[in-house]
Amino acid sequence: MLNQLASLLGPAGLLTDPVDTAPYGEDWRKLYRGHPRAVLRPADTAQLAEAVRICAAAGARIVPQGGNTSMVGGAVPDEDGSEFVLSLSRLNRIRAVDAIDQTLTVEAGATLKAVQQAAEAAGCLFPLSIGSEGTAQIGGILSTNAGGNNTVRYGNARDLVLGLEVVLPDGEIWNGLRRLRKDNTGYCLRQLFVGAEGTLGIITAAVLKLVPRPTEMAVALCAVPSPEAALALFTRFHRHDPAAIQAFEYMSGLGMEFVLKNIPGTVLPLSERAPGYALIELATPRPNAGLRAALEEVLEAALEAGDVTDAAVAESGAQRAAIWRLREEHTEAQKREGASVKNDVSVPVSKVPAFIREATAACEALMPGIRVVPFGHMGDGNIHFNLEQPEGMDGAAFLARDHEIMDTVCEVVRKYDGSFSAEHGIGKLKPYMMPDWRGGAELDLMRRIKAAIDPSGMMNPGKVLPL
Ligand code: FAD
Ligand code: MLT
Ligand code: ZN
Repeated sequence: MLNQLASLLGPAGLLTDPVDTAPYGEDWRKLYRGHPRAVLRPADTAQLAEAVRICAAAGARIVPQGGNTSMVGGAVPDEDGSEFVLSLSRLNRIRAVDAIDQTLTVEAGATLKAVQQAAEAAGCLFPLSIGSEGTAQIGGILSTNAGGNNTVRYGNARDLVLGLEVVLPDGEIWNGLRRLRKDNTGYCLRQLFVGAEGTLGIITAAVLKLVPRPTEMAVALCAVPSPEAALALFTRFHRHDPAAIQAFEYMSGLGMEFVLKNIPGTVLPLSERAPGYALIELATPRPNAGLRAALEEVLEAALEAGDVTDAAVAESGAQRAAIWRLREEHTEAQKREGASVKNDVSVPVSKVPAFIREATAACEALMPGIRVVPFGHMGDGNIHFNLEQPEGMDGAAFLARDHEIMDTVCEVVRKYDGSFSAEHGIGKLKPYMMPDWRGGAELDLMRRIKAAIDPSGMMNPGKVLPL
């Protein structure tokens, strides 16, 4: 089998030396250290399909891998060295951009950043934006149904895809690269693969939706006294003009402390530290829309009401980037602070403050000294309720209690009818939670879909569905 793969893929397309394959075995968070049997790096869809056929004939298991930035160990192989990592990195061409149709056709291995840049070059915007966009690939973005900073306005990845090309577990290529806005011709197959985390097949290319590029933007970082005040601020902007809100992000005082302490070059553009912060971005493709004035008008009212205690409005592109950096470096800053347990949860937007308060109290009662870092996409109800190890505690001892901590948070999530995984997916970390949260008919239906499309279970085993 390896000989067949070697002659198909050539030296650039097949890695077998453990020194070369090791980086593909470890996830971004360093929670897992798997051992790839080999890494397959096909150069195009036809080659990829043939490699999958060879694997299927030999009964080999495949783990698709994009940028390997999964927060839930979705793209790592198992530890016994029997699974093949299939890296999409060489399928990275932008195939077409159409500024009239507002579509972009791209191969799965292109980074999100490359897609944003190609859209910009055509005078358009691909509106999905996440902290890992320089590394995460379109195949990974779609396979996890990534969310990010602009979901409040444009939805998740699944709302931004019109067509897909997929290699199925038997090596057949499904070309569904249509770029239609309307197409009611049977089951919507592309949405089956979006969010499937590589368990049903391999996305090799996609047609993405573009939107007009904003010509006017206004960004502010606000100090807020509480999560309730942050929500009140969001509501003010929403009532004023919901269509202008491009992002509304919340950050806790402690999360910001970690950024300022651990990320060189970051500076808080406010007079003093606060219990919390809100980042608001307004944007419009309409020229002379007066966004800056609208931003200031809403902020003034919020300052008067005490929902905001201080605010900095970006005066330039550089200032806007510096404000966004304070938000986007939260993940890296927490990594440098020690071990953390991540809860990527969502609740109805109106319940975010109550959720933050109650989950904080529950975690502090469970483990005195635990450092609670809630932040994220308040405008769509998705909070990253991350818990950092108590100072001085052994990281491994802290992580050994991860289920206990996640269960404590999830009890509050359940109270508010929320989700235990809003945007990061299930991967290898959370299948154990599926029977409890998605049990009965829902999980049964998922298993039937898996069995119909991947009867031998060769695609990303052990991910999403509990074994
Ligand atoms: P990988 O990690 O390589 O894979 C993810 C899953 O998709 C795996 O199950 C893998 O098997 C599967 N897969 C990958 N490519 C394919 C393919 N072509 N076909 C089929 N299956 C495939 N996520 C968010 O949603 N929002 C955020 O705001 C966000 N911020 C982040 C910030 C940082 C700093 C980091 C490190 C991560 C962040 N993430 C966020 C998580 C992560 O970046 C996303 O889940 C992203 O979509 C993963 O893309 P990737 O290419 O790295 O996929
Ligand atoms: C983000 O929005 O920055 C990531 O999804 C968050 C994380 O670190 O959990
Ligand atoms: Zn996020």
